[in-house]
Amino acid sequence: MANNDTLKKTLTVTLVLSLVCSVLVSAAAVFLKDRQDQNKLLDVQGNILSIAGLVDDPRAMSRDEILAKFKEVKPMLVDLKSGDFYSGGDLNVSTYNDRAAAKDPKLSAALPAAADTALIKRREDVAKIYMVEENGKLKTLILPIRGYGLWSTLYGYMALDADLDTVVGLGFYEHGETPGLGGEVDNPRWKETWKGKEIFNDNGKLDIAVIKGSVVPGPNAKHQVDGLSGATLTTRGVNNLVNFWLGSNGFGPFLANLKKGEA
Ligand SMILES: Cc1cc2nc3c(=O)[nH]c(=O)nc-3n(C[C@H](O)[C@H](O)[C@H](O)COP(=O)(O)O)c2cc1C
Repeated sequence: MANNDTLKKTLTVTLVLSLVCSVLVSAAAVFLKDRQDQNKLLDVQGNILSIAGLVDDPRAMSRDEILAKFKEVKPMLVDLKSGDFYSGGDLNVSTYNDRAAAKDPKLSAALPAAADTALIKRREDVAKIYMVEENGKLKTLILPIRGYGLWSTLYGYMALDADLDTVVGLGFYEHGETPGLGGEVDNPRWKETWKGKEIFNDNGKLDIAVIKGSVVPGPNAKHQVDGLSGATLTTRGVNNLVNFWLGSNGFGPFLANLKKGEA
């Protein structure tokens, strides 16, 4: 009987086995890429619905249910520099990818360090927002937000009521903060504390802060959100990114135009 226990045969079997396995893993990664991308998109859509208060728990919904409900939100493009709805250019709202645009030198601009309070390096020229309408009128405005926490860029959305002042919801669909610390941005109880907060003060100035510690009841409480305990750096990042995106380099000009009815 042939001796199978030789160095040559052992190495050959090991080599063939690793080759077969690596081909299988690579093939699976390639074949599943489309499905993974679709699932990622579905996850973002579920998050948008939840942040806008249109559904309670998107994880309890089927793919078809999410897709059907998502028809209630209307995507729109906004020219961030002028603060107007984007029109007349080559970009198509249904294919436009704002995250890809933010990396494309033709579709974005580098932010000077002093302006880059959200630590995003580049800002896309055109943002993709979502609107929920009721009887032809704006009911909820859903704005993309992103910025650096402690370990990662947090990607999410903030939903505002038709008064363009009251927060309907805020949440992040992607981040790499530590579970139990910065990862508590996903805690439903913390997300709940955003609801009803007001982003502008009585003089129309942007006035919203995620503070260190707990909000003390009083006149400023409606402009403040509790910080995450043990996660001061993520908290600071969230405060900075919210203020960036609602400010003059983010959606500030658009919100001002929309209020005047001139967007
Ligand atoms: C392994 C590890 C992971 C951490 N993850 C986070 C995090 O995701 N977000 C954060 O703000 N702080 C995180 N921290 C804590 C920070 O280093 C820092 O101590 C904290 O932000 C200070 O917050 P405090 O002033 O509320 O205690 C982590 C610390 C360790 C050791």
